Amino acid sequence: MKPGDRLIRHFLQFKDLRAEEYAYLFARTRIIKSRFKNYERYQPLADRTMAMIFEKASTRTRVSFEAGMYQMGGSVVHLTTGDSQLGRAEPIEDSARVISRMVDLVMIRTFEQEKIERFAAHSRVPVINGLTNEYHPCQILADLYTLIEYRGKRFDEPYILDALKGKTVAWVGDGNNMANTWLQAAEILGFKVHVSTPSGYEVDPAVAGVSDRSCYEVFNHPLDACRDADLVTTDVWTSMGYEAENEERRKAFVDWCVDEEMMAAAKPDALFMHCLPAHRGEEVTAEVIDGAQSVVWDEAENRMHVQKALMEYLLRGRIG
Ligand code: CP
Ligand code: NVA
Repeated sequence: MKPGDRLIRHFLQFKDLRAEEYAYLFARTRIIKSRFKNYERYQPLADRTMAMIFEKASTRTRVSFEAGMYQMGGSVVHLTTGDSQLGRAEPIEDSARVISRMVDLVMIRTFEQEKIERFAAHSRVPVINGLTNEYHPCQILADLYTLIEYRGKRFDEPYILDALKGKTVAWVGDGNNMANTWLQAAEILGFKVHVSTPSGYEVDPAVAGVSDRSCYEVFNHPLDACRDADLVTTDVWTSMGYEAENEERRKAFVDWCVDEEMMAAAKPDALFMHCLPAHRGEEVTAEVIDGAQSVVWDEAENRMHVQKALMEYLLRGRIG
């Protein structure tokens, strides 16, 4: 590093940031969101460009990053496997070296986590994980911020994480990228995850990357996982990249559908979240996702606000 160079920070897994950095990011998100809602122009990323690389489909991730970057004065370049040399076997390391000389930030949605790690190792600029087979840290950032908005009492930095401490999150479904990231967040931010998956689809703590097993508890029956939970959450039965297992999964997951009985087992004021896209009648009933306890639309919107704070932080560090 040359004198004056800033250390590059990536966001490849939830555990790449510390609890105090999340306190800052959530407090900052509140300010950025409020300014945006009040039509106050805030463009700290003018002249900056972000490359967005998608090797899997997306609606929310693309729109939230793209709109967020434009709102902050920057611009984006959208790349997919099919329309770039990435799909023609150019080495990831070479792609990283080239792309990161031309842009200031890179967001990648891909398959194996190892691919994004290799890209980041050869990137001159921060890299953000927009979903891999193993993790989805930007989604958990939005989910936690949404929980804070609904349950927080104080939103200044020293207290903003209090809304999460000691809470119980029920995870009903696949031991997938979302489940792994919930576990990492629980370990860092001091809450507990009740996990219920069908047999054969359990979370693997080594893949999840958690060392403290007390941050989660496993339940055979999804109803038991939901008991006294502050938040009940689920995800699709078949994640992107696992479509060949679809039929097998439809049979295995049939009892892992969040319904009104599960919500009734949770705390009376429990919230329901889903990262979306959702399949009503599979992992969640229409009554639950469209019901009074569901906050899925705020959750989706908050992707944009938290990611604006994240992009600002990775590029400019703490403001103020
Ligand atoms: N939740 C989420 O990441 O949605 P998309 O797949 O639409 O980006
Ligand atoms: N677990 C899902 C999340 C989609 C946003 C997937 O990886 O497809």
